[in-house]
Amino acid sequence: MTGEARSFGEQGGRLTYGRYLRIAELLDQQRPESDPPAHDELLFITIHQVYELWFQLLLHELADARDHLLAGEAYLPRVRLERCQVIERLLMQQVDVIDTMTPQDFLAFRTNLASASGFQSVQFREIEFLSGLKHPGFVRRLRNLEPAEERRLRARLAEPSLWDGFLALLTAHGFAVDTPDERLASLSAVAHDRERYGALWDVAEALLAHDQAWALWRARHVLMAERQIGTKPGTGGSAGAPYLRSRIDFRFYPDLWALRATL
Ligand code: HEM
Repeated sequence: MTGEARSFGEQGGRLTYGRYLRIAELLDQQRPESDPPAHDELLFITIHQVYELWFQLLLHELADARDHLLAGEAYLPRVRLERCQVIERLLMQQVDVIDTMTPQDFLAFRTNLASASGFQSVQFREIEFLSGLKHPGFVRRLRNLEPAEERRLRARLAEPSLWDGFLALLTAHGFAVDTPDERLASLSAVAHDRERYGALWDVAEALLAHDQAWALWRARHVLMAERQIGTKPGTGGSAGAPYLRSRIDFRFYPDLWALRATL
């Protein structure tokens, strides 16, 4: 049958765009709480849900990168991390959409959020744990977690991080990584012989780019929050901007940043 003779888009009739992607279910997940309806609440719900979808994909990519690093491979981890960087650039740009909301329009529904806050995003914390920033205190501080959410967070704390994977890769290439001095010497050797260790160097740079992207998002998020609520406390119970600022300097890979000063 020629292309023209086909009834385009109707072949088979079994799987459709809407059924494959579960569009009806997806578009049924935005349920504003405000009554009377506040115009910007749909934007607020949508942007958070879109973040969570990207977080899900980031976890998928980062976990796969970690697994291949643990197996001593460099190629696929770099490919996965490069995709993550593109997604992370999108996460930054999405902030521009929420900046189109005025604080007055946010106030029209903010009280409906009660104690709900991005602080309770389990996937955000999973990404931090998987990347190597494991702060067990967060699991205790997150009250009202679903049992499945708590299990996921505890599993991320227990399993190897991307950094553990990178150290396994260095070890597989004969580098010592047990002490900070050994790691710095190993990273320095890699950095100074890119002809030989180019694949390792590329993974190190991809990890640094992931770390940098996360730090940039944190800094951008503080400005987003201040633009909306100024010096008010957060709905999650923190002091608001001062709490968010206290997290700006956290890094996933301090050794990779420390290396810079020694080159
Ligand atoms: C109107 C826009 C927003 C405001 C005013 C805001 C405000 C805040 C505040 C004050 C906190 C500190 C915790 C608390 O007391 O609530 C927080 C945490 C957080 N928010 Fe937002 N936020 C906004 C949008 C977003 C968006 C779109 C995301 C995307 C998922 C997000 C993700 C997070 C995350 C992950 C944390 C925890 C950060 C950490 O503990 O390091 N926020 N937010």
